[in-house]
Amino acid sequence: MSDLESMSSDILGRIEAAGDLGALEAERVSALGKQGAVTQLLKTLGSMTPEQRQAEGPRIHGLREQVTAAIASRKAALEAAELERKLATEMLDMTLPVRAGPQGTVHPVSQVMDELAEIFADMGFSVATGPEIEDDWHNFTALNIPESHPARAMHDTFYFDRTDADGRKMLLRTHTSPVQIRTMVNRKPPIYIIAPGRTYRSDSDATHTPMFHQVEGLVIDRGIHLGHLKWTLETFLKAYFERDDIVLRLRPSYFPFTEPSAEVDVGYTVQDGRRVLGGSDKWMELLGSGMVHPKVIEACGLDPEEWQGFAFGCGIDRLAMLKYGMDDLRAFFDGDIRWLKHYGFAALDVPTLSGGVGA
Ligand code: DAH
Repeated sequence: MSDLESMSSDILGRIEAAGDLGALEAERVSALGKQGAVTQLLKTLGSMTPEQRQAEGPRIHGLREQVTAAIASRKAALEAAELERKLATEMLDMTLPVRAGPQGTVHPVSQVMDELAEIFADMGFSVATGPEIEDDWHNFTALNIPESHPARAMHDTFYFDRTDADGRKMLLRTHTSPVQIRTMVNRKPPIYIIAPGRTYRSDSDATHTPMFHQVEGLVIDRGIHLGHLKWTLETFLKAYFERDDIVLRLRPSYFPFTEPSAEVDVGYTVQDGRRVLGGSDKWMELLGSGMVHPKVIEACGLDPEEWQGFAFGCGIDRLAMLKYGMDDLRAFFDGDIRWLKHYGFAALDVPTLSGGVGA
């Protein structure tokens, strides 16, 4: 093989082996650049005799053309491979929405909780919270529900294996009433709070889910009586349902943590097969309430001679169903996007008393 032939196969081999456009460019410079091997060879033509030039000229020019063509074809191949790689990796999902507007809605339960906070804030109440995993003392004992009390069995409690310092099983709170206890223990009266939150009982049908929501109300002050309770509930429910004709009926009842206790019914009528609150045509039970039992006040380290109060507990899911017309509680927690789109609230639809709490 002549020098020229071996040089040619060497250069062409390296061009073919160039793995990317950078390596190919380096090969181009080393062959065709100013100091390149082929360029150097072309320069030798000047010092040749006419006969030599006639013989060597076409071979050297031929080599240059071969190398130029090989570079161009390798370049095209590398660019095509690069495009293939990009097409395979840089995918564009054509099914994505074109414009990313606000996504999702506010769940009716969250919306109602905001409405409650707004209504009660206007009456001087603040929002208190407590843990969902409770101990026996806060959920039962301090609320005047001792170990042997039948009310414990009625609560269908979810217990944990883990026990508290007294050796009693921890539990998922069965109502928001333990927040009353935590608030009285931790704060000095006067106390005006509501405590909305999740509660748990082992129960499931169209109107019961194992997790549900309650709002607790608690007032502890001097000289508080049932009249304050009734006024507060009436004011709350008129604002919540946005109707002035809300009528309440207090029925004597029993709760271990209140004395006297009253169950509160609200009047409604049936229009086109739907319950419409207002008036006193029919009654439905809405919440439990009463004057805080002296034993409960005492358990929290306060003197019941000095401090009295009232409390109430109400299902939030029920409030939402009545106001916004849903009839199956289970759908609240299915996470079905169609339900949420239909019943959910826009993110900026913040309830205000001036704008209407249900706006
Ligand atoms: N904790 C009760 C329940 O879950 C509801 C309740 C009734 C709360 C009367 C109260 C009350 O604060 O005074 O069934």
